[in-house]
Amino acid sequence: MTTIHSPLTDDAHKVVTEALRDALIDLVDLSLAGKQAHWNVTGPRFRTIHFQLDEVVDAARKHADIVAERSATIGSPPDGRAETVAGDSQLPRQQPGWVRDDDVVATFIGLYDGVIARMRQRAHDVERADPVSNNILLDVIEELEKQYWMWQAERG
Ligand SMILES: [Fe+2]
Repeated sequence: MTTIHSPLTDDAHKVVTEALRDALIDLVDLSLAGKQAHWNVTGPRFRTIHFQLDEVVDAARKHADIVAERSATIGSPPDGRAETVAGDSQLPRQQPGWVRDDDVVATFIGLYDGVIARMRQRAHDVERADPVSNNILLDVIEELEKQYWMWQAERG
């Protein structure tokens, strides 16, 4: 069995592992939710929302990778398996089928509201335990909050 030496104390390691694990699940599921809506959006604002959703997906995937690799770096194997994400994600479930543009905007405003609150809590939880992981989560929050603003602006 491969063991990666953690730079953290046991107590810090436990806290940071949990925060990064849950952050990864949120980000992987956000990328899936973004593509699902990207493919199924309909309505007069199709093109705007369709391409905005690819920005959601690109950012979520980029940050998922950074979070997962930080987890590996501190000695905790990342778990981004479909079964883990399906079982543990806290994102609201999406229904299959076409979705009107206004409904996509409302859905993503609600979705970002939840993800940001959880990310802020995780950043707080790891602040003392591991400033490096804290910094990574702050970068995630910066991106999510920017996109949250854009979704709210879309609502008009
Ligand atoms: Fe596409």
